[in-house]
Amino acid sequence: MADDRYFLGSTPAELKRLRFQATILRPITERLLREAGVKEGMRVLDLGCGPGDVSFLAAEMVGPSGSVLGIDQAPEAVAAAKDGARRNGIKNVDFEVTTVEAFTSSVQFDAAVGRYVLFHQSDPTAFIRHVMRHIEPNGVIAMHEISPRHRFRSYPTVPEWDKTGDWLTAAFHPDNPGRDAATRLVEHFVTAGLPCPMLFTEIPTGGGEDSPLYAWTAETVRSVIAVLTASAIATEDEISIDTLEDRLRTSVVAAKAQVEWPAQICGWIKLQTGRLLAGEIARSASRCRSGTTFGQRYGTNLDERF
Ligand SMILES: C[S@@+](CC[C@H](N)C(=O)[O-])C[C@H]1O[C@@H](n2cnc3c(N)ncnc32)[C@H](O)[C@@H]1O
Repeated sequence: MADDRYFLGSTPAELKRLRFQATILRPITERLLREAGVKEGMRVLDLGCGPGDVSFLAAEMVGPSGSVLGIDQAPEAVAAAKDGARRNGIKNVDFEVTTVEAFTSSVQFDAAVGRYVLFHQSDPTAFIRHVMRHIEPNGVIAMHEISPRHRFRSYPTVPEWDKTGDWLTAAFHPDNPGRDAATRLVEHFVTAGLPCPMLFTEIPTGGGEDSPLYAWTAETVRSVIAVLTASAIATEDEISIDTLEDRLRTSVVAAKAQVEWPAQICGWIKLQTGRLLAGEIARSASRCRSGTTFGQRYGTNLDERF
């Protein structure tokens, strides 16, 4: 079951990579949670929590009067998350082994958050519907996803960087319907019967000797090396995993280049009127007209703004 939902698995190396990745992604996820209104005293559900970093971030934001429950189908991930909470003395967080689909709870949550989890679903809309069952009538659902439609890029072009990025793009489940979730958040939310989400996009960008993007890229390749070689996307010799991070750094620095990871797209909704009834699904689509952060901040048309 674990490998069906998360093909990178939950080995100690992959869990370590997720924790490293979390240090890079944290500011983006934090912005999402702030904009979505996660605040002190809230009860938060972290969907597909992995080793727990989004849960830990949310736990900080909700403070001692709030609480966070992280759920994940992988027992190894949940054990790592519990261990992280214990080692760091984080008391307002708990973790449970369960799929989102099978999760039951006697309490409702003020917010549900998921990072890099819709991406792995065969039916992202059904996944969101499962989540809706657990959210308070005025609660929040917030998703942070990565978009493989936005390629790894380098300016000026660094062939080693672009080629490695293309390997990763090819390795990540080209046939999985959830793969495009980042660029289909509006569709998945609205089809689930929710209002059009607020949205923003950030692109991890770096350059120079000290960027963490080389290690992030090389360690992600390490996690999918079996897929790359089995699908003949790249050979072990081409990859030469133990020197990949240094090769990326050296070639990017030599070109004085600036490099990018794929876009991080975040979307969230605040339920205004409780769970929508089936008959309201069609009407929710029309709410998309004003459903962006841009629209919310600046008004949806010139008449509103000036
Ligand atoms: C890419 S990892 C992200 C972990 C964490 N959210 C983070 O950002 O560090 C995706 C996680 O979602 C879990 N997962 C995927 N589908 C799931 C489902 N339907 N129910 C529960 N867990 C799921 C996987 O086991 C994996 O730990």
